[in-house]
Amino acid sequence: MNRQWLYAKAPVGKITPDTFEWTETAIPVPRDGEALVRTRMLSLDPANRAWMMGKTYRDALAPGQVMSGFAVGEVVESKAAGLAKGDIVEGDWGWQDYAALPARRLYKRHTPAALELLIGPLSVTGLTAYFGLLDVGQPKAGDTVLVSAAAGAVGTMVGQIAKLAGCRVVGTAGGQEKCDWLVRELGFDAAVDYRAGGLRRALVSACPAGIDVYFDNTGGPVLDAALSLMNLRGRIVCCGNVSQYDVEKPAPGPMAVPGLVVTKRLRMEGFIVMDFYDRRAEAEARLAQWVADGRIKAVVDIIDGFEKAPEALIGLFEGRNRGKRAVRI
Ligand SMILES: NC(=O)c1ccc[n+]([C@@H]2O[C@H](COP(=O)([O-])OP(=O)(O)OC[C@H]3O[C@@H](n4cnc5c(N)ncnc54)[C@H](OP(=O)(O)O)[C@@H]3O)[C@@H](O)[C@H]2O)c1
Repeated sequence: MNRQWLYAKAPVGKITPDTFEWTETAIPVPRDGEALVRTRMLSLDPANRAWMMGKTYRDALAPGQVMSGFAVGEVVESKAAGLAKGDIVEGDWGWQDYAALPARRLYKRHTPAALELLIGPLSVTGLTAYFGLLDVGQPKAGDTVLVSAAAGAVGTMVGQIAKLAGCRVVGTAGGQEKCDWLVRELGFDAAVDYRAGGLRRALVSACPAGIDVYFDNTGGPVLDAALSLMNLRGRIVCCGNVSQYDVEKPAPGPMAVPGLVVTKRLRMEGFIVMDFYDRRAEAEARLAQWVADGRIKAVVDIIDGFEKAPEALIGLFEGRNRGKRAVRI
């Protein structure tokens, strides 16, 4: 059988288990030009929730469809040129055990790495951190880089890449324990608990020379506070808005935009990781080398069992993960 999680209905406010519905159907049969893939790892991403809010960089999810999501799997049967049984591939085929897909929708992985790395640090997560920080943020040695959701999948990679670039690195995360861990285990220079109150004051003391690059994963109050501490000609990398995805109605944006953007000559730039996929091989090779050398710790948070996908996604919005959260099947 092909077990599937369907997107059952649009949430009102936070997602709950009944946002999803379990179903079982027959395993699909690949047609000419297609490969049958068995899912091995499912990526849990804040974007899964954002896709329920309406059209983004892709169409909104429609109730009744298989829940969308990025996955890593193994080819079990191939009628597609260039793909053979046993190949490890990644793609966006959603929350299900099996999918039959044309070759153009599958990205074959050549890097011999653990599936836990291929689902995040050496794939979308790592590439988001790499291109977002280095290309959009353009950090220079000695800059202060602030990253929000710093203990999460993208944040842990951004902080460590910024250290490799010679920057002073500060993170924000939920809870003192996560903040201590960022400094102790990942080499951050400082970390601030955004939930503890006094956020702006805490950031002033963690960033005594101001902020040159703010890598924004959250929007919301951290963006508000960061704007006021940006240095002249600073760069704000708009990667995501996780504080505003799992809510009924997103809060209005910061009052300091555009005022501070003008007076401080800031550059605020959004990006989607796929924009950079023509340089994917270069980035994957560098990330793999950094992880192999131990210069970057790939932090993964693996949950076993397909049936746990909904609660694993809900947990992302409660900050229950450290590093890349994925479900192993
Ligand atoms: N632009 C792109 O191409 C691209 C690609 C991938 C991801 N993204 C974006 O990157 C961001 C991080 O994604 P990720 O996959 O690395 O997820 P993640 O950081 O591993 O998980 C989400 C984290 O967000 C934090 N969080 C939850 N609710 C929050 C709130 N109300 N305020 C502040 N923080 C909150 C939680 O940590 P705490 O314990 O710290 O609260 C949680 O661990 C997201 O905004 C995502 O949409 C963008």
